[in-house]
Amino acid sequence: METNLLEIIYLIGSITFILGLKMLSHPDSARKGNLIAAAGMITAIFGTIFLYHDVEGNSLGNYIWIFAALIIGTVVGFYSAKKVQMTAMPEMVSLFNGMGGACAAIISIVELNHFFHAPHPIESFVTNGHPLLNGQVLIMSLGLIIGSVSFAGSMVAWGKLNGKVKDFSFPGQQFMNIGLMLAILALTVFMMFVDVETAQMLMYVIFSLSLVYGVLFVFPIGGADMPVVISLLNSFTGVAAACGGFLYSNSVMLTGGILVGSAGTILTILMCKAMNRSLMNVIIGSFGGASASNPAAAGAAGDIREITMNDTAVLLSYSKSVVIVPGYGLAVAQAQHVCHELEKTLEEKGVEVRYAIHPVAGRMPGHMNVLLAEADVPYTKLLEMEEINPEFPNTDVVLVIGANDVVNPAAKRDPSSPIYGMPVLDVELAATTIVLKRGMAKGYAGIENELFYEPKTRMLFGDAKATLQKLVAEIKAL
Ligand code: TAP
Repeated sequence: METNLLEIIYLIGSITFILGLKMLSHPDSARKGNLIAAAGMITAIFGTIFLYHDVEGNSLGNYIWIFAALIIGTVVGFYSAKKVQMTAMPEMVSLFNGMGGACAAIISIVELNHFFHAPHPIESFVTNGHPLLNGQVLIMSLGLIIGSVSFAGSMVAWGKLNGKVKDFSFPGQQFMNIGLMLAILALTVFMMFVDVETAQMLMYVIFSLSLVYGVLFVFPIGGADMPVVISLLNSFTGVAAACGGFLYSNSVMLTGGILVGSAGTILTILMCKAMNRSLMNVIIGSFGGASASNPAAAGAAGDIREITMNDTAVLLSYSKSVVIVPGYGLAVAQAQHVCHELEKTLEEKGVEVRYAIHPVAGRMPGHMNVLLAEADVPYTKLLEMEEINPEFPNTDVVLVIGANDVVNPAAKRDPSSPIYGMPVLDVELAATTIVLKRGMAKGYAGIENELFYEPKTRMLFGDAKATLQKLVAEIKAL
């Protein structure tokens, strides 16, 4: 009876995951979707704690350990999520994803050890006289490898994003990585043909090599590509968790793992497509490492033209059509609310205001959509790059707020630029482009932007939030 109830709870949990993921695809329903999936997860966790019984009818036990871990995890998770800045989100996702990978790897180690020490070692699985040659050992080994790679890689990615770990590579590193992966796979196959003692030793060797592989895999990847790598590692963790689901015949773990694995893979592919780069190029391209050492990247030079607050206010107020291009700097400055106020103020003066959303503006997928939704900017005002690009020639003023790489024309004009080929917003086609940023610092790709030196571009220096506040006041006073 309890087992049936637990199966029903798992089924409900799986349904909430699917429903939650579906609802995450729209800003209006995303928050609710997240809560629904979380409720499903909580139900599945408590169902397992109180209703699970093994074949001999024993319940889980260990309640003090389980609840101590649950309480610590909940408190740490709750406060980190409350405290985190929007701009540090990829960093947090990376850290938490690493924890998921570590869990999957530890589950595999524990279960392989159980398996090796079972009183009647696996008689039921004996295959051609090789007791370890079976699907269960294979699944546990895959969970071990993928989980360890995901854990170690996520930790390096986390360190890179918070600036504690620097890019590191050496000649032939990619070949060494490939060799290491082949060695891990060969050892895994070998482990299935040896005696239990040797297999146990090999398990720890595979575990250690997988950790080394995870570190070496992420070390050379360029800073600007970190969000793509995090999404890839996220999908790895999903697959590792799904291995756990197979192992325990646990449908909710399996569904959750598969959803994370496939969503992470789709997201990785979408990000690569938005940057017009292959996954292989992301992994071996060291994108974002270019700057001073790369003369091609140092590129643009010339005079810039500044504009005063008053002139900007007049220009915007007397325009027919204005397009706002938000970027990472808008998120840093937390200027989304005042940006919305500017939009409303201009609309009251009869100006048409729209937003141009580049797919990789900011530091995570949908970053700008989430930020603007937080400020209640109507979703219909946000136009994707393909929709807005043909509109720029008919636009009076483009206001670039804290964006840089996503409006860099070098992506179209300069084959030697590291971002050459990445689709960008054609803002230079508008009558005037005003760029709001604090100074002449480069964007995440570490390259100059010739847009800032173009005759039709005007620079308005300062923190985005402070500048927009003054601008709104100035426009209202006109
Ligand atoms: P970036 O190119 O990173 O440029 C942001 C600009 O904002 C900087 O040049 C900075 O200049 C300015 N800024 C920073 N703080 C500011 C503040 N408080 N007020 C005003 N300006 C401020 O941003 P982007 O155009 O959004 O491009 C995103 C980059 O991330 C791309 O290279 C993209 O490929 C990469 N990336 C993104 C993703 C996703 S999924 N979003 C994934 C992979 C890679 P100052 O310091 O001079 O102010």
